[in-house]
Amino acid sequence: MRIVSRLFLSMLLLTGLAACKEEAPQPPSASDIQRAESLRPISTELHARYERSCLACHTSIDAKAPLTGDIAQWKPRLDKGMDVLVKHAMEGFNAMPPKGLCADCSEADMRALIVFMSQGKEERK
Ligand code: HEC
Repeated sequence: MRIVSRLFLSMLLLTGLAACKEEAPQPPSASDIQRAESLRPISTELHARYERSCLACHTSIDAKAPLTGDIAQWKPRLDKGMDVLVKHAMEGFNAMPPKGLCADCSEADMRALIVFMSQGKEERK
């Protein structure tokens, strides 16, 4: 009986690990980080808001936030849908603080910042 449950447990563990391996995105390289650090939104207002808040965490691997401009890291986030991401950005999500610590960011700013951060470029309107 014990052996059976042990076997079962180790099988669970193995399948769990295999699933993890498939899901885990590539760790960011030095050039991903350099790129994240160098990107800025085009519009002056968004640029200022981004530099004041999002940049600190979203260009650092230590913060465990998806890096700005790292399309592979943003892909699973974008798959949740833009509305969910905007909601999470406004209300906070795990270690991501509400409004990303940008007190004067509107919901529209948040949306524009997410588009910029997930694509590494700002769409001109
Ligand atoms: C104090 C650090 C910090 C700041 C500042 C910050 N973020 Fe984040 N952000 C995080 C972390 C950490 C995560 C990953 C959370 C997780 O998936 O557990 C995250 C995740 C996100 C996500 C993905 C949420 C999801 O549902 O997957 C979005 C969108 C986001 N941040 C937008 C922003 C925007 C826009 C700003 C600036 C206005 C900002 N963040 C500022 C730390 C930060």
